[in-house]
Amino acid sequence: MDITPYKGGAADSPGVDNVIQLASNESALGPSPKAIEAFKAAAGSLHRYPDGEARLLREAIGRRHGLDPASIVCGSGSDELISLLITAYAGPGEEVLYSQHGFLMYRISALAVGAMPIAAPETGLGADVDQLLACVTSRTRLVFIANPNNPTGSYLTTVEMQSLRDGLPPDVILAIDAAYAEYAGADDYTAGQPLVAAHDNVVMLRTFSKIYGLSALRVGWCYAPPAIADALNRVRGPFNVNAAAQAAAVAAVEDIDYETRARAHNDTWLPWLARELAALGLPTHPSAGNFLIADFGAADRAAAALAFLKERGILVRGIGGYGLPQYLRMSVGREDENAAVIAALKAFVSAAP
Ligand SMILES: Cc1ncc(COP(=O)(O)O)c(C=O)c1O
Repeated sequence: MDITPYKGGAADSPGVDNVIQLASNESALGPSPKAIEAFKAAAGSLHRYPDGEARLLREAIGRRHGLDPASIVCGSGSDELISLLITAYAGPGEEVLYSQHGFLMYRISALAVGAMPIAAPETGLGADVDQLLACVTSRTRLVFIANPNNPTGSYLTTVEMQSLRDGLPPDVILAIDAAYAEYAGADDYTAGQPLVAAHDNVVMLRTFSKIYGLSALRVGWCYAPPAIADALNRVRGPFNVNAAAQAAAVAAVEDIDYETRARAHNDTWLPWLARELAALGLPTHPSAGNFLIADFGAADRAAAALAFLKERGILVRGIGGYGLPQYLRMSVGREDENAAVIAALKAFVSAAP
């Protein structure tokens, strides 16, 4: 009963038919047409159970990223993999550590198994390696870092992540949740593969919900050392990723041109949104993802802007649940959607400066 249920981003606004949905960090472009085709083709086999090992999907991911498919475990979204990792490795009296504004599911999944969620303080809205390490105790079982983080968009550099790993006791698992890795282009960023390959206590989580635009199908994957992959395969459901999702995800991960286009779209519009918001007196925190948070200065002003946008059919996300009530988070949308949110905020700011 200590769990506050996770609330997804709003998906509708009363009286508005075609909402602009910028509340859930979804893909601006939607899925690859090849993924849609594969999804439709799967309709002919709905009476068959899916491949419980997701072999074709793990092989396609392995080819795309140069990884051994045996080290990959697929899940019903990376949410399921977060939960499975915690189920396998933590329990009552043990601790799951994450950073103060880290993704909410770490706390929820820890509480669900009776483990203690521990949030390490951040510095400047970013994870702080020293603060995280200072929170490690003999009860710590896992450390989760969303990299880049949702909702702040902050990231730990390759060097910082290595020093976090090096500072952890060998029996503590470092889970790098790289849901937004495809968007993070900085030279000093690494999604996490080399760390997983080099150490037996590091895993990396990825998702098809973001750049691949397949949120509805719920597909995520974990790259893990053999012992951890083995544990995940023991605790997961036997058919945890449905057949249509597997088929669409294979097509999506193989459509490199489409992924490149989606990244280029983000590289154009993320900085555009940041500039336009700054010009309206709404500073944003630097983001390595496909979303950003804008600072409205006070919680009630952010709430008023959220309601103002919603009335106009534009859905963004309040992040009071993350302890950041003066901010609103918005995804990068299509060109027309980005223009619409900026035009609406211009009207909001001039009405209530
Ligand atoms: C950091 C982070 N991790 C994991 C997830 C869950 O993604 P999935 O749709 O793969 O369950 C999200 C979704 O917003 C996220 O922001």
